[in-house]
Amino acid sequence: MEFFDSHAHYNDEKYDLDRESIINEIYNEKITRTVCVGYNLEQSKKALQLAKEFHFMYATCGISPNDIDDYVDNNIEIIEKLAKEKKIVAIGEIGLDYYWNKENKEKQKELFIKQIEIANKIGKPIVIHTRDAAVDTIEILKKYPVIKKGIFHCCPLNQELIKEGIKLGFYISFSGNITFKNAKSEPCISLVPLNRLLIETDCPYLSPEPYRGKRNDSRNVKLVAQKLAETKGIELKEIAKITYENANRIFEI
Ligand code: NI
Repeated sequence: MEFFDSHAHYNDEKYDLDRESIINEIYNEKITRTVCVGYNLEQSKKALQLAKEFHFMYATCGISPNDIDDYVDNNIEIIEKLAKEKKIVAIGEIGLDYYWNKENKEKQKELFIKQIEIANKIGKPIVIHTRDAAVDTIEILKKYPVIKKGIFHCCPLNQELIKEGIKLGFYISFSGNITFKNAKSEPCISLVPLNRLLIETDCPYLSPEPYRGKRNDSRNVKLVAQKLAETKGIELKEIAKITYENANRIFEI
């Protein structure tokens, strides 16, 4: 049984002391594909560098709404240049975050749209980060359609958002938060057809139960898959296979 962790941050400083060994370890534990996700200029470059170093790793580049300080000078052009690299499989993570940043909504929207334009120009999908901003996120996706579609990463457990996202042709990626007690994730999981389902860790953050609060890594994607298997009433190996194929399809690997 092999797993595809569709969203990880091995570029994060929390791996500075043991990056190489943990990456080799996850591969030995049958996480045989993963995407290292960028969120600002520096971390996008680092993600690409790691993807070049490890054959089973891919990368994304983009400026997230929480890194809006990077939205200066010619950084958008640099993102576009990075995006053309072979191992870059998507633009992201990009989107809107009104939980952490309420005061610069218009600037966030502008940055999101600019990066959707890059995705369309280059012909790659996007990885969406959206928090407390479901309505505006959907509105932008309707107004600025993404040709290669994309993924709602660490998808908020918001049924309306999930329904709209699926209607727009997007994939829904669940992370460790679906395992949290009181998450009430089942109705949301049930809404997602199997051919649009993805699994991720968003490591080093968001460790699933029973490791909540500890540093996360891709091995824990199995616990996310397990929760999906239980909720969907199918075997773990089926979820592993389906989400692996879905990730290959959306990232065109
Ligand atoms: Ni992330």
